[in-house]
This record gives sequence, C-alpha cells and structure tokens, in this order.
Amino acid sequence: MRSSPGSWAVVAGSSEGLGAAFARALASHGFNLILLARRPQPLEALAAELREARSIETRAVPCDLGSPDMGQRLCEAMSGIEVELGVYNAAYSFVGPLLDKPLEEALRVVDVNIRGPLQFVHAVAPGMVARGHGGLVLMSSIAGLQGAPHLAAYAASKAFNIVLGESLWAELKPKGVDVVVSCAGAIRTPGYLKTATKDAPGTLDPQQVAEQTLAALGKGPRVIPGGTNKLAAFLLTRMLTRRGAISMMGSSTTALQAPSA
Ligand SMILES: NC(=O)c1ccc[n+]([C@@H]2O[C@H](COP(=O)([O-])OP(=O)(O)OC[C@H]3O[C@@H](n4cnc5c(N)ncnc54)[C@H](OP(=O)(O)O)[C@@H]3O)[C@@H](O)[C@H]2O)c1
Repeated sequence: MRSSPGSWAVVAGSSEGLGAAFARALASHGFNLILLARRPQPLEALAAELREARSIETRAVPCDLGSPDMGQRLCEAMSGIEVELGVYNAAYSFVGPLLDKPLEEALRVVDVNIRGPLQFVHAVAPGMVARGHGGLVLMSSIAGLQGAPHLAAYAASKAFNIVLGESLWAELKPKGVDVVVSCAGAIRTPGYLKTATKDAPGTLDPQQVAEQTLAALGKGPRVIPGGTNKLAAFLLTRMLTRRGAISMMGSSTTALQAPSA
C-alpha cells in the first residue's frame, strides 16, 4: 500500500469502529479520503479530524450502501478524483435463528453485504484497471468459512465476499490491481460490543485489524488478522470435519445476543 501526493482512497462504512480505523490508517499514510456511511454527524466529525490532524483532503458522503443507486452516488462522489484504494467495510447483520426474523432482514443483509460490494467494485475498480494500479479491500469474517448458526444470512454473505475477493484477486492482479479479503475474528467495534457479553478468544481492536489488513495488500488473496484467529481458521478449515467446524463456530455465534432496542 503506497500513496503518492494527491492519492485518494474511499472507505465504505467509515463513521465508526473498523471503518473509522481504516480511514485513520489511510490518512496516516497520506491518502486523501472519501468517507461513506449513513450518519452525517460522525462522518463529518471524522473527516474534519483527519483534515486537521493529517493535512489531507476529505469528502464526507452520507449515503445508504444498501440502496440500489449507491454505485451512481459513489461515481458522483468520485467526480474529478482518481481513487487508488477502496475499502468496503460496511455490513448488516442480525443475531438469532433465521426463521425467527422477517425475510426483509435477510434481504437487507443481501443489499448491504452482497449488492453493496458489487456496486462498490463496479464503481471503483474500472479506473484502477485503466490506470494499471490500485488496491481493493473487502471485509469478511471467519464466520464466512463455514456455517454459523444464529448468523446464517450474515455468514453466508461473508462467504460470498471471500469468494468474490479471491476471484477478483486473480482477475485483477495481472492488470496491476491488488485485492485482499480480510477474514476477521471478533473486533471490539461498537456493533460487536452490543452483541457480545465478553471478549471472544482472539478479539482485536479495530486499529489492529485495519493495519494488518492494509499491510496484506499485494501479499495474497486473503488475510486473517491475529495469531489466534489464524489458528482458529486453520482448525475450522483444515483439521475439523465440516460438522465439527459448524459446531465450533456455533459455540461462539449462538452465544451472541441481539442488541437491545
Ligand atoms: N465487529 C466484529 O467483530 C467483526 C468480526 C468479523 C468481521 N467483521 C467485519 O468487519 C466489518 C466492520 O465491522 P462492524 O460491523 O463491527 O462495523 P464498524 O466498522 O464498526 O461499523 C460499520 C460502519 O458501516 C457503516 N454502515 C453500516 N451500514 C451501512 C449502510 N447501509 N450504508 C452506509 N454505511 C453503513 C456504519 O455507519 P452508519 O451507521 O453511520 O451508516 C459504520 O460506520 C464488517 O464488514 C464486518 O462483517 C466484523
């Protein structure tokens, strides 16, 4: 990951938590930033903080990444800018058995976690390919490595992102664009802290995940931040049977609690 003077990055889902950590890490490397999230107030506060602290340019663009016109909104936000690096971080999830929730909840997962990254890639990557360089980060989860009871739609969407990211890694590498998909374990973000009663083994701070993920760009299709999470992923994908892996993941995911309204 390199920035030259005037380089721009875009972080989708950056008003708090891991997305804000990506923005801070990229600003510290000198990138100007387009920041996307729904809530204007924290987004604009972060943009102002980074403009001041890092002497960079910022564009804060409040938007819903699950909306069908998100790609068009992003293209308008990138007008006159050559984006060098794109991070799709936003996600929607709900906790509990799939059939206990209305179908609309699962379709919202599809909109934000599947349609969103596809629209994002279509908006951001063609310019990188045309220029022959750039980088893309897709956020996934070790929950996407196998079935995850009580997180069924979310885990399935994260499996989609793993395969999407790995496929794009192979397609775009010969065109000079690096892609990495980050399969994170638990991260102390505001969203995670609403559902977890205590730290899961291997829980990391957002800054650690952002830094390890960005450092992995150009080194391979997939990164698993944190030693404990690498070990867990090895167990889940190489050592255990599929039933065993679903059971091990389920011991964590069924302990999550739906956030109180
Ligand atoms: N936290 C964990 O333990 C964990 C573990 C493994 C993987 N991950 C992955 O890491 C990523 C971030 O994790 P996190 O969920 O904890 O979130 P986060 O980065 O702490 O916050 C999510 C960000 O996305 C924005 N966002 C959410 N929905 C959006 C929408 N529809 N349109 C625009 N912006 C939206 C939120 O801002 P607004 O509310 O202002 O829109 C917020 O800035 C996700 O891809 C997740 O799957 C997280």
